Amino acid sequence: MGFNIAIDGPAGAGKSTIAKQVALKKGCVYVDTGAMYRGLAVHFLKNGIRPEETDKIVHACADADVSIGYEDGNQQVYLNGENITGMLRDEAVGDMASKSSQLPEVREKLLELQRSLAREKDVVMDGRDIGTNILPNADVKVFLTASVETRAKRRYDELVQKGIVCDIKQIADDIKERDHRDMTRETAPLKQAEDAVLIDSSEMSIEEVTEAILKLCR
Ligand code: DC
Repeated sequence: MGFNIAIDGPAGAGKSTIAKQVALKKGCVYVDTGAMYRGLAVHFLKNGIRPEETDKIVHACADADVSIGYEDGNQQVYLNGENITGMLRDEAVGDMASKSSQLPEVREKLLELQRSLAREKDVVMDGRDIGTNILPNADVKVFLTASVETRAKRRYDELVQKGIVCDIKQIADDIKERDHRDMTRETAPLKQAEDAVLIDSSEMSIEEVTEAILKLCR
């Protein structure tokens, strides 16, 4: 078993930014499990399936092979051998990932991939159920959160920087809807593990959050 750091939390809490920093400082591999759910979502969309067609989603799991690799230290996602990393951030992919990840069959499909990575390597793994379900014996567990307003503002700034016109109220509403879905699903819902340390990053800088997690590792 490698040295395992689990970082869970809601969408937009800054998990990936922080996890990458911690991985860099600790010499660990960063594993983004949301990207794996997004990889499966690309498969469902490529098959013309809509998020509400749950039977078709379950059926389509059989011929999806999701794997990951690294290029210049950046995680790449492969679907049946094709590098689909560039497709993962599409809005439709995020929506499909959020809805399809509620299905136990979809979660089961990625469970062993996530656990085997943590067995083989020292990892910082981020997601929704890493500390509670995937790596219950992780060495360090963090539940990273931030207020809806902070998360919406961060997302808004990110989109504006990319030249995308957007409405901050709409972004906040989408975040609330996604939180609700992630926290109320029956299989492996988003929740803080009993032994996880809660960090609210609303009023903290990236450096402060990174340092707080590094301290937990010492
Ligand atoms: O972190 P993200 O937004 O890239 O994740 C995409 C979706 O995948 C998210 O809506 C919830 C789901 N997910 C999950 O259910 N469990 C994980 N460990 C990671 C992501």
